[in-house]
Amino acid sequence: MLKIIVGSGEEISRLIAEQFILQIQKKPDSVLGLATGTSPLGVYRNLIEANKKKVVSFSKVTTFNLDEYIGLEGTHNQSYRYFMNVNLFDHIDIDKKNTFVLKGVGDYLAYANNYDNLIEEHGGIDLQILGIGSNGHIAFNEPDTPFDSLTHIADLNESTIKDNSRLFSSIKEVPTKAVTMGLKSIMNARKIVLIAMGKSKAEAVKNLIKGKISKRVPSSILRNHPDVTIYVDQDAYSLVNK
Ligand code: GLP
Repeated sequence: MLKIIVGSGEEISRLIAEQFILQIQKKPDSVLGLATGTSPLGVYRNLIEANKKKVVSFSKVTTFNLDEYIGLEGTHNQSYRYFMNVNLFDHIDIDKKNTFVLKGVGDYLAYANNYDNLIEEHGGIDLQILGIGSNGHIAFNEPDTPFDSLTHIADLNESTIKDNSRLFSSIKEVPTKAVTMGLKSIMNARKIVLIAMGKSKAEAVKNLIKGKISKRVPSSILRNHPDVTIYVDQDAYSLVNK
């Protein structure tokens, strides 16, 4: 059963940040699953503020990120490692050694093949945050990804390349492949929160909440998880009752 919370972007970002803070207060050495994209930025801003005010410490926390583009070094300004450093890790008291992001270059395949083991060795993910793609993807699990997939290499759909090209200088610069946690890897998390904002996500949110549970809508697998909360703004929620 999905829980659904509708609020302004600011409200839902604050509410999700509170979930993370409660999780870390309850278990200081929590393992967090983190996401990139525009959607979680407000959550990360709230976490940075809470850390500055000493409401929460990340000194014992471990993090695992969902995905990374193949072909981008961690220093590339569109790599997800860079995104995480700039938007969260550089501003909180986390030990960077405890922040795991999939590799996009070098031995990325071997690293990917061991990623689920690495998560398990750290005790599994306590709380996972997800965004959602306009086609219903989560992480880089595009439509038709098997529900039992673990971390793997993925070809990006044209619509995803187009959506993400807004962040690159041209569409030609957008990598066409990525390495991503699989749907099963994500479902292994003990608790999941998903954030979606804006009209461009309305169709995906409707399919996630009301459509068939099907490989065509990767995020629909979340309906099989015992502890998922979907946080949406009015625009993202706008098609659910239509
Ligand atoms: C990318 C990421 C996803 C993210 C999605 C939506 O494809 N791999 O993890 O959820 O974009 O991003 P945004 O939040 O910027 O709309």
